[in-house]
Amino acid sequence: MSRKILVIAGTRPEAIKLAPVIKALEKHPERFELTVMATAQHRQMLDQVLELFGIVPGLDLDLMVPDQTLTRITCRVLEELESYFSGRRPDAVLAQGDTTTVMAAALACFYARIPFGHVEAGLRTGDLYAPYPEEFNRRVPGLLAAWHFAPTGWAAGNLLGEGIAREKVHVTGNTVIDALFYILKTTAPPPSPIPEGRRYVLMTCHRRENFGEPIREIFTAVKEFAGKHPEITVWYPVHPNPHVRGPAGEILDGVENVLLTEPLDYLHFVHAMNRSELLLSDSGGVQEEAPSLGKPVLVLREKTERPEAVAAGTCRLVGSDRSRIVAGLEELLFDRAAYREMSEKSNPYGDGRAAGRIVDILSAAL
Ligand code: UD1
Ligand code: UDP
Repeated sequence: MSRKILVIAGTRPEAIKLAPVIKALEKHPERFELTVMATAQHRQMLDQVLELFGIVPGLDLDLMVPDQTLTRITCRVLEELESYFSGRRPDAVLAQGDTTTVMAAALACFYARIPFGHVEAGLRTGDLYAPYPEEFNRRVPGLLAAWHFAPTGWAAGNLLGEGIAREKVHVTGNTVIDALFYILKTTAPPPSPIPEGRRYVLMTCHRRENFGEPIREIFTAVKEFAGKHPEITVWYPVHPNPHVRGPAGEILDGVENVLLTEPLDYLHFVHAMNRSELLLSDSGGVQEEAPSLGKPVLVLREKTERPEAVAAGTCRLVGSDRSRIVAGLEELLFDRAAYREMSEKSNPYGDGRAAGRIVDILSAAL
């Protein structure tokens, strides 16, 4: 008998990391009756990913508004899912990560007593406010999921330490590696705005806990670095959140060797990472992708829920401190030995076959 599965995605990284799971579920139409729901907590950035992977959501809540609040996203997702579940009860719901879409979807499933599967379960910093609100968001599915798909043994250990029954915790690898390998295998590098041979740093920056003074300090560090090193470009596809875009434009617009662009679709971003010398980033996903590409990441955060990449030597925390950021960039770009030490390839987040494992586990359980 086929089982009704609802997969819910709200933002860019959720769509990237769920695309391999959706593709793997689609291979078993006799087993799974699949519906994809986009909450569209993100609009343009979510659509970029859905289009790239050819995913057409059966339902789209279209809830993004400019400069939205956490309360609004939470209430809208809860209300919409309550109404959806009253007409149609899936046998299982899947969501990925630690956005507000995921927290609210998990809570809606708990209220409706529908089994919830959490992809990328068990990440923790131990500090409820770092990252904010993601540490809280991921603890909610941690309390109630029927299946915790942990990317690594470390993440699984966190869940077991919180008293989750062993049979609910599965180490699968991270599905972002499936997505990354798929793009690298199936696409050629597209044209780049940076001339062949020119050295560049690829940057992302969007965390809520950095809003205000810390983000201004980060952008000022980039401006200072760019002023001192005109031979290197910093390429920054700017996140559309107004709390990011405002200060980025104010501090970095017009700096000659800082290239500000719109967010790149995943295909372009993967190839841009692969051609870059290193990354300056507060993204979760980038910290996971970089070890597989052998690209050092200076992480614009004080704490990370992804210690595996720090242990592997690929990621180093530099926070939002101006001098630490400039010194980190200079060390890696001008000291070949320091660079080599951080650019060893490793695969702490899996072998690119996480989605198949998740589908096998669901198949056996449902
Ligand atoms: C959200 C997640 C964060 C995740 C990030 C991935 C929460 C609370 N935050 O942060 O965990 O790391 O996504 O990027 O769940 N906007 C657009 N177009 C888009 C997307 C966003 O214009 O395609 C603008 C809108 O003004 C929107 C604002 O950005 O209101 C904030 O979006 P939101 O999803 O609330 O927060 P993010 O900072 O994107
Ligand atoms: N990414 C992308 N285009 C960009 C910047 C990032 O496709 O312009 C990808 C990146 O490779 C990673 C994911 O988006 O897989 C990270 O998403 P984001 O930084 O929005 O969120 P986080 O991972 O921090 O939740």
